[in-house]
Amino acid sequence: MKFHKYYSYFLKFFRTPKTKIIEFVLYFMKQKIEMVMIQLLIKLKKFNPFTKKIWKKETELDIITRKFEKWTNEKKQKYKIKEFLEPDFIPIEKDTSHCYAIQQVKKEIFEFAKIILERSLTHTILEIGLGYHGGTHIFWKLIFDKVITIEIDMKNIKRFVINENISNRDIFIIGNSNSLEILRKVINKVKSVDVLFIDGNHKYGSVKKIIYCIGI
Ligand SMILES: C[S@@+](CC[C@H](N)C(=O)[O-])C[C@H]1O[C@@H](n2cnc3c(N)ncnc32)[C@H](O)[C@@H]1O
Repeated sequence: MKFHKYYSYFLKFFRTPKTKIIEFVLYFMKQKIEMVMIQLLIKLKKFNPFTKKIWKKETELDIITRKFEKWTNEKKQKYKIKEFLEPDFIPIEKDTSHCYAIQQVKKEIFEFAKIILERSLTHTILEIGLGYHGGTHIFWKLIFDKVITIEIDMKNIKRFVINENISNRDIFIIGNSNSLEILRKVINKVKSVDVLFIDGNHKYGSVKKIIYCIGI
């Protein structure tokens, strides 16, 4: 930490075009190494044979909500946070994602799950935006065979992979959902997607692009 502080001071005074290039290359390499490490960790954690039992796919809404509330309650106790968003929650500039186990209104997300189950759309979901604690990814795992999450912030995926149990049913794609290359990765991984849950970039153009490219 201290080294980094002094290093930054040093760079402030001695920054030249050459050091700027070195800095960029080092940053790029650090990001790449971190990405490879996360992918390795995901592969290692997928070996855990007990994961299947803990996060098994359910068909009854009661069981799904009960199991999920157990998870949100554990997060509440551990991190002293709220479980769900308040029904009158208004998104603000300040990021409060770490304050909630899941960034959804309880009644809304449970009603959405009811519709998914009624229509038997439970094979694959594509989610954009894991968030700080990854609440929706955990919830989808109780409903779907496969959960694919695209997340732009590597730190969120790293935290999730370290803290939660993962299996072959989890697919994480690190990157921007606006990128065609990232969306192509989804198409290469699964034949079709039953449900799209877009909770990352909510801009009209971005949402439209995902719907057109994935075409459910
Ligand atoms: C509202 S949070 C998601 C919360 C989560 N779905 C939940 O309910 O617990 C939004 C997340 O989307 C990610 N995000 C924002 N823009 C994105 C993009 N263009 N592509 C991928 N992820 C994005 C952010 O990094 C953040 O983690």
